[in-house]
Amino acid sequence: MSIDSQSSSEFSSEEIAELVKQSTPKHVAIIMDGNGRWAQAQGKPRVMGHKAGVKTVRRAVSTAREMGIESLTLFAFSSENWRRPDKEVTLLMELFFTVLQREIKLLHKNGVKLNIIGDISRFSARLQKQIAAAQTKTADNTGMILNVAANYGGRWDIMQAAQALAKKVETGEMTSSQFTEKALSAHLSMQNQAEVDLMIRTGGDYRISNFVLWQAAYAELVFTDTLWPDFDEHAFKHAVATFASRQRRFGLTGCQIESMQSE
Ligand code: IPE
Ligand code: IPE
Ligand code: MG
Repeated sequence: MSIDSQSSSEFSSEEIAELVKQSTPKHVAIIMDGNGRWAQAQGKPRVMGHKAGVKTVRRAVSTAREMGIESLTLFAFSSENWRRPDKEVTLLMELFFTVLQREIKLLHKNGVKLNIIGDISRFSARLQKQIAAAQTKTADNTGMILNVAANYGGRWDIMQAAQALAKKVETGEMTSSQFTEKALSAHLSMQNQAEVDLMIRTGGDYRISNFVLWQAAYAELVFTDTLWPDFDEHAFKHAVATFASRQRRFGLTGCQIESMQSE
């Protein structure tokens, strides 16, 4: 199959299976957008969309495991989502708590390691405790890593890493010349995981909304109009096939990449 001329919308199921096998991303990050619009389109309150979105999360985790993805990062609540009506924020917090409580057994059984990223200090003590318990339970699992971004912002992540390093400089633990890109990377969330290869956004908008910035510097971006609750196994595999059909050049020329691949 000629992958350069192939438009992603034309992939058949067989082509998707072949492409996914050829090149599976190590780290996939997803902006799960469109829950509210999904519910509103059916005349339901927005929260019903968030509830339906939880089912999609379960399905996405299982599809990611099946594809052999090492890290799956899901954007659950951004540092800007506090600006939503109080009622919606409260409902989202409640949902996060119940889902953590309910899903952790299955995640553990499947060898998934749960890692919450973001500034959790703003959450209630009860929720923080639940997060800690869930992370501890799955800490030794060696299967896929599931990062859930909660009260997360890409700028926050970079800032907290920079602050940690600044403190080390201040206390004399390191010099300012040791404040390098590598040192900063080592203080970011998900520092021991592969950088993001593929970033998917559902819901039809074309923006990053302050999701992972540094770690997604060279990510392939895939945007789909599908609203998160409708993002099924086929849609996920289709996005991965789109990733696999692209040529990642990392600053090199296409010819350089092709000659490296033919070696
Ligand atoms: C994404 O869906 C989930 C969260 C931000 C928590 P939205 O709630 O943003 O859904 P839309 O974009 O309003 O449809
Ligand atoms: C991004 O979605 C955050 C999550 C999916 C959790 P938003 O719906 O909050 O993004 P904007 O506000 O449309 O950029
Ligand atoms: Mg949205």
